[in-house]
Amino acid sequence: MSPATELDDPRLAAWRDDTPGVANRVHLNNAGAALPPRPVVRAVVAHLEREAAIGGYEAADEAAGQVHDAYAAVAALLGAEPRNIAMVENATVGFNQALAAFDFQPGDEIVTSRNDYISNQLAYLSLSRRLGVVVRRAADLPEGGVDPESVRELLQSRRARLLAITWIPTNSGLVQPVEALGALAAAAGVPYLIDACQAVGQMPIDVRRLRCDFLSATARKFLRGPRGIGFLYVSDEALARDMYPLHLDMRGGHWRLADEFELAPDARRFENWEFAYALVLGLGAAARYASTIGLGEIERRARALAARLRHGLGDLPGVRLLDHGRELAAIVTAEVPGWHAPELVQALRARGVNTSAAMREYAVIDMDGKRAATALRLSPTYYNTTDELDAALQALRSLRR
Ligand SMILES: Cc1ncc(COP(=O)(O)O)c(C=O)c1O
Repeated sequence: MSPATELDDPRLAAWRDDTPGVANRVHLNNAGAALPPRPVVRAVVAHLEREAAIGGYEAADEAAGQVHDAYAAVAALLGAEPRNIAMVENATVGFNQALAAFDFQPGDEIVTSRNDYISNQLAYLSLSRRLGVVVRRAADLPEGGVDPESVRELLQSRRARLLAITWIPTNSGLVQPVEALGALAAAAGVPYLIDACQAVGQMPIDVRRLRCDFLSATARKFLRGPRGIGFLYVSDEALARDMYPLHLDMRGGHWRLADEFELAPDARRFENWEFAYALVLGLGAAARYASTIGLGEIERRARALAARLRHGLGDLPGVRLLDHGRELAAIVTAEVPGWHAPELVQALRARGVNTSAAMREYAVIDMDGKRAATALRLSPTYYNTTDELDAALQALRSLRR
């Protein structure tokens, strides 16, 4: 791809035209929060303006059709139905709402990976401390990523109550084999919860192939939605088993008699009544935008840019690439000699390049295994250009210590 050919591509030109932020920054922090496209910004701002003009509750009533469309757009992204989607504040809330649907007893086991996301690991450890749940982390393959055979063995336990896996952990490009693990969970009859926070908007997702009961995600990352909103997919099977979160509110339950309630029939039983309508509409717009481009196309382009970036970083003296695993997504991590990553992030930001830092405490098992205290994280997506990658590499060269 020569830069001239690349910018001649009318699709890339249109994507960048839709993205005001690319005029200001080389944005390689899409795993943190991507630059939203114009339709997302318009959807959020237009609803806030209606709230100001006619009142928040009244604007919500007026937007009921658009809100329904947002559920449909998110569901379509996953191969699900609107009834399977709960809109929640963020991925962590979605994940914890799913965990709260299990009545864990002392000695019950959560089977997970050594690379699950920090907040998920903290939730498992909290369940361990508070309820006596046992956390079983499957072994990794020598090349990185969870060993499915180890997961299969752990799922044989009588006490295995849940398989919980983070698809793409935040602190490296690793892609876990979530579809193969879904087949193992189904064979063992163990419910399956996937954290798809970094996968949504970065690659195609089909919950039927994953065979998961729950899948959590957020809007602001590769999906390019607004901050402060996320969602939880709940399978029809989990709904039919009457699974619901421990702390229901008036959205999820209907109070019929003094001592009785009924569950909402759909995934909305995992929501709260107070609802960020503007952000939900922004999330819907982001889901439609991604679907229009095509998730296969997004994945191909994002991964090609990431591979190019890894190659360029590998050529910089002393830089150590930290992404391990059979399959790598568009998250690139590297240790840069002489730099504490958060300071390098600031130095790059001062040069107009947005990146982020992966810290040891975000992923203690993984980072200790790699003997890395901090790492620079660069996460390109389809609207980035090879020119931008070269600019980031040039900035890194100029900051060599
Ligand atoms: C893999 C993964 N899971 C979960 C989260 C948490 O998402 P949120 O901040 O929306 O709760 C993140 C955020 O970086 C993440 O990378």
